[in-house]
Amino acid sequence: MTNQDHLAGCRAETLAIRAGLNRSHNAETSEALYMNSGFVFDSAEQADAAFSGDVDRYLYGRYANPTVTMLEDRLRVLEGAEVCRATASGMAAVFAAMASYLESGDRVVAGATLFGSSLHILTKILPKWGVHVDLVPPADLDAWQKALSTPAKLVFVETPTNPTLDIVDLAALSRLAHRAGAKVIVDNVVATPVLQRPMDLGCDVVVYSTTKHLDGQGRTLGGAVLCDAAFDKDFLQPFLRHTGPCISPFNAWVVVKGLETLSLRVREVSRTAQTLAERLEALPNVTRVAYPGLASHPSHAVAKSQMRDGLFGSVLSVEVAGGRPAAFAFLNALQIVDLSNNLGDAKSLSCHPCTTTHRVLTPEAREAAGITEGLVRVSVGLEHVEDLWRDLERAAGAAAGALRQAA
Ligand SMILES: Cc1ncc(COP(=O)(O)O)c(C=O)c1O
Repeated sequence: MTNQDHLAGCRAETLAIRAGLNRSHNAETSEALYMNSGFVFDSAEQADAAFSGDVDRYLYGRYANPTVTMLEDRLRVLEGAEVCRATASGMAAVFAAMASYLESGDRVVAGATLFGSSLHILTKILPKWGVHVDLVPPADLDAWQKALSTPAKLVFVETPTNPTLDIVDLAALSRLAHRAGAKVIVDNVVATPVLQRPMDLGCDVVVYSTTKHLDGQGRTLGGAVLCDAAFDKDFLQPFLRHTGPCISPFNAWVVVKGLETLSLRVREVSRTAQTLAERLEALPNVTRVAYPGLASHPSHAVAKSQMRDGLFGSVLSVEVAGGRPAAFAFLNALQIVDLSNNLGDAKSLSCHPCTTTHRVLTPEAREAAGITEGLVRVSVGLEHVEDLWRDLERAAGAAAGALRQAA
């Protein structure tokens, strides 16, 4: 790799552009895209040495690729982790982090509010393999304390949660988990490494869907797992090598370039989201705005202490009076914000979690998590704040109209 010593002490904005850069003999400025699946050897002896592990070099695209390595090195440095492994999607990262580590008979304690597919893994797939899973309301430290008073192997949480924006106190949870013998995995998709570094708070493993803010322009699917060298060597790397959920080099290249603007984008969308959340909260037919930057958020103080620079991310949820008909009227009235279940795009996106992203949950589980029929999630993008406000205010007006009609 190009020597990186000159980057010691550099800030995240510089590292997001410079870390991991490995120029070829052609001395290109931008990171090169190595769009190949295999590698050639000079001799049978060289192949023998490479496969025995005596020589460290690229062997096969399922194991590693130079463009993918640049993404992994850049993200690893931004997260402050020893190792990063990129994957084909966020769900591949979530699944690999759990499945590589767990064995039949293990116990997992997880936040009850999670992305629907993560909950599917925890409640449908892992139990089939003899793993016992307990779910805990994510912001309730007493409930975590109780659940972790008996031994566990793994704790899995999102914070802020998608779509209810609950906050888990990561430092306190890590202490409880470690006392119970569990490693803590954090899905850091909503916060990004710009606003929150769970490993600094004692957590063990961080997972991303790079599909979201790390790409940032809705182009590619990808994921990443960040951990220490021992977890990688003993569990993660062998699992990934042999099961093969590797990211395409092209997708890795897009995300490498996305990381260069991550800090600028995340800061800007966080400022816009804060303004929109404050204004939405004042509308008469809005019954709840979930955004950790609001003083009314029940865990605002924890969010402020564990997230950075007084910024709280791009995702907010707004509950309108009138249930599903009002929420649908809100979504159908949007003219700038697109209807999409994705998040973390330059384009603002909105969806009805009940009938899309969190459809796989039972109605009781949705109710318990606060994913109500009137809840609409907004992923705030990079459009001008006043244009977005005009769109959201009109949508809230349409929701009020639907409520009046139903009365
Ligand atoms: C919080 C969270 N984790 C994980 C995922 C899964 O990511 P992917 O769609 O890249 O598999 C998503 C979104 O889809 C998400 O919102």
